[in-house]
Amino acid sequence: GRIAVLYGGHSAERAVSLQSGGAVLTALQDLGADVVGIDTAEDYLAQLQAAQPQRVFIALHGRGGEDGQIQAVLDAFGYAYTGSGVAASAIAMNKLLTKRVWAGSGLPTADSRVLSADTDWSEALQALGGKAVLKPVLEGSSLGISIVDNAAAMASGYAAASQYDSEVIAERFIDGPEYTVGIVGDQALPVIRMEAESGFYDYAAKYERDDTRYFLPSGLNEEDEAALQALSLTAFRTLGCRGWGRIDTMRDSAGRFWLLEANTIPGLTSHSLVPKAARAVGLEFGDLIVRLLEQVEV
Ligand code: DAL
Ligand code: MG
Repeated sequence: GRIAVLYGGHSAERAVSLQSGGAVLTALQDLGADVVGIDTAEDYLAQLQAAQPQRVFIALHGRGGEDGQIQAVLDAFGYAYTGSGVAASAIAMNKLLTKRVWAGSGLPTADSRVLSADTDWSEALQALGGKAVLKPVLEGSSLGISIVDNAAAMASGYAAASQYDSEVIAERFIDGPEYTVGIVGDQALPVIRMEAESGFYDYAAKYERDDTRYFLPSGLNEEDEAALQALSLTAFRTLGCRGWGRIDTMRDSAGRFWLLEANTIPGLTSHSLVPKAARAVGLEFGDLIVRLLEQVEV
C-alpha cells in the first residue's frame, strides 16, 4: 500500500526533520515503494486525505510532530503510523515529565529543579552540586541547552532556554561520557558513545561539525553494554513508547548510568545515531525504514 512520509513542520528542529524526511523518502523511492512526502508546515490533512496512504511514516522532530499532536490527528482520522502513540509521545517530549515517570519507577535519572525567574540561582546551583545543565523542558537536538557552574551563567542560561520553552529545568551535571541506545521493535541496538570535540555534544556537534567522534562498538565491556541496553529498553517501555526510539544516557565517573531523555522520533539524517547502530547489526538504511514500517499495524 501507499506510504505517506510526514516531515518538516514548524518546530525548531524543522531543518533536522527536512533531512530525516528526505532520507526516508529517498530510501523508499529507491525500494520502488508507492510513497508521497508531505511537509506538515502546509495543510497536511487535506494532502493525507487526497493520498489515502495505508501507513504513515512520521519523520517529524520536536513540537507538533514528536509530542503527540500529529499522532492524535492521525488517530482521529484513522491513519496507522510509525512509532509511539499520543500519551507516550507527549511524555517523552517533556523532559520533566519523563524524569518524573522514570524516578517514580525507580529508574536512575539525575536530580533536577524547575527554574523560574524568581529562582535563587546560587541556592539552586548548590542544591545540584555546583554544576548544572539547563534545558528547555520541551525541545530536542540540544537546542537551548547550556552547562553552568555559577549564578551569572545560570541567569543567562535560563534566559537562553526560555527562548525555546516557558518551562526550564536545571539538572545535576554528570561528567559523561554520553551514550545512546537505539530501539527497534523489541530490540536494543548496539550502544554508541559520543565524544564532542568541545566536550559538549550540542546542536553544532550533532549536525554541523565533522569532528564529533562516534564509538561503535562503544568501548563498554560486555556486561556494561548489556546492562545499558536493558536499562534503555526498560526506560523506553516505562514511558509506554512503542515501535522505535532512542534513549540517551550519561555515565558518571563511578560507572553509573543516568537516563537523560527519550526520543520517540530520533534523527534519520546522515549524521544520525539510530541508522549508524542499525548498520552495525546488518540493517542498511532502507532495511531499517522497512523494519519500522513493518511494526505498524494496519
Ligand atoms: N531530536 C533529534 C532529532 C534526535 O534525537 O535525533
Ligand atoms: Mg531529544
